Amino acid sequence: MILVRTRDALAGAMSTLRASGATALVPTMGFLHEGHLSLVDRARELADRAVVSIFVNPLQFGPAEDLATYPRDEARDLSLLEARGADLVFVPAIEEMYPSGEPAVTVSPGRLEDRLCGRYRPGHFSGVLTVVAKLFGLVRPDVAVFGRKDFQQAVLIRRMVQDLNLGVRVETGPIVREPDGLAMSSRNAYLSDGERAQAVGLSRALLLALGRFHEGESGATALLEAVKDELARFPLLRLQYAELVDPEGLDSVDPAESGSVLALAAFCGTTRLIDNVELS
Ligand code: PAF
Repeated sequence: MILVRTRDALAGAMSTLRASGATALVPTMGFLHEGHLSLVDRARELADRAVVSIFVNPLQFGPAEDLATYPRDEARDLSLLEARGADLVFVPAIEEMYPSGEPAVTVSPGRLEDRLCGRYRPGHFSGVLTVVAKLFGLVRPDVAVFGRKDFQQAVLIRRMVQDLNLGVRVETGPIVREPDGLAMSSRNAYLSDGERAQAVGLSRALLLALGRFHEGESGATALLEAVKDELARFPLLRLQYAELVDPEGLDSVDPAESGSVLALAAFCGTTRLIDNVELS
């Protein structure tokens, strides 16, 4: 596995890799878990070479968010990636990604920012799209793979590629869950034992609503009430939003249809967690 930290080294290594076939990129912020590693597996299925980036992108954190405390463990990440068969890992410093400081030109998510998480995290998705566009420009992958847990992020990246003709195929990998159902996330590391025990409420609430949908309930109010009632059983959880949306435009839907997505964000103590389920 090749490790590069600079754009120049990346350009050199990529021209060699590209000569040996199609390349797939898995952008990450590190502190890897099985969810990330499953995306590396997917990248290896989709292309001849798997490239992973590890960069905690300051542009996508709000002023009151956890940039300073975001969990990091580069040595562990690198050994996990090596064991999983990644071909190249790009670990740039901030100055390497943003040599002139904060970029003057950024990518705007447009009206899709007013939905779901975007409503509560102003600037977040512009930061995500900007760094992903930069990574696409630097790596020039054939395919890029993102996790479905970050549902709105995946929708926006797909849309950016389409609207800006970036020429990268965007693929998503399924949400990987802990045995009790909690969606894997680097931020789960913030949870105390008591919080961790209650964080399972998010997936339970979604699964309960999915069950109701399978039983024939499609009314948005009934499904969202089922989510709220279930979450209310977990006193450490504070719902930020639960919405039923169409999977492309992210507009609210009522009644739910097959393919609609039920997405939510909740604080567990001070940790903000997200999860979603496709009603199918
Ligand atoms: O999903 C993430 O970890 C980040 O938002 C991403 C896509 C790596 C951009 O910084």
